[in-house]
Amino acid sequence: MKKAVVFSAVAIVAGCATAPSTGDLDQQTQAMLKASFRDQGIAKMDRLNQDLAQKACSSENAPPAAVASEIESQAMATVKWPEGGRYIGDWREGQKLAEDGKGMAWNNKSADPAGNGGQCYNCHQLEKSEISYGTVGPSLYHYGKARGVKDVTAPGSAAIVQYTWAKLWNSRVNSACSAMPRFGHMKLLNEDQLRDMMALLLDPKSPVNE
Ligand code: HEC
Repeated sequence: MKKAVVFSAVAIVAGCATAPSTGDLDQQTQAMLKASFRDQGIAKMDRLNQDLAQKACSSENAPPAAVASEIESQAMATVKWPEGGRYIGDWREGQKLAEDGKGMAWNNKSADPAGNGGQCYNCHQLEKSEISYGTVGPSLYHYGKARGVKDVTAPGSAAIVQYTWAKLWNSRVNSACSAMPRFGHMKLLNEDQLRDMMALLLDPKSPVNE
């Protein structure tokens, strides 16, 4: 009995002496992920490659202010503004997209965003009548109304319209480590779908603003 105790104490000390650094562990994890997955259908191994923001936001500490602001300005530079300044589509289509969680799976025939949903309800409340929603993100109920949008096409609405488009295009524009998918930038939704999401959020007639 006594011997067993001594052995385990030695094992613990030896374990500490050889404990790998966070960097080593990260490398080992990356190697394990790369060895465990393979390309299948539209899901390719490049999904494992981390960009600057993903790397910085995956470390133990939040990125330093200078890195965070670099990530945000890089995100802003990715934003593609809509053709002909047409920002607003049909909120009814946006409503369907917000509820729809499909897309990006290995068994989807095509990676075309037209076949994807927005899965907004996974993280946000939108309409009062929908009682099932995630709370990872803030409630978007009354998103346009709370910001005083009475007419989405009025010049006074331009700032909030542009902010919302940029946010949906690349959520890192004002929040370096945002947990929200970068819908336009990562080709998860196309321009028409984004216009419909914009209408759901901002159109005074949308149930979000009722
Ligand atoms: C995986 C979770 C997740 C999903 C899915 C998601 N969001 Fe978000 N969203 C967030 C989080 C977290 C925030 C707050 C942090 C931030 O600003 O990035 C946020 C912030 C926002 C904001 C900014 C709110 C403000 O007051 O400035 C808007 C607008 C928004 N989301 C819209 C959407 C829409 C529309 C969809 C679906 C097309 C969606 N989100 C899907 C997590 C998510």
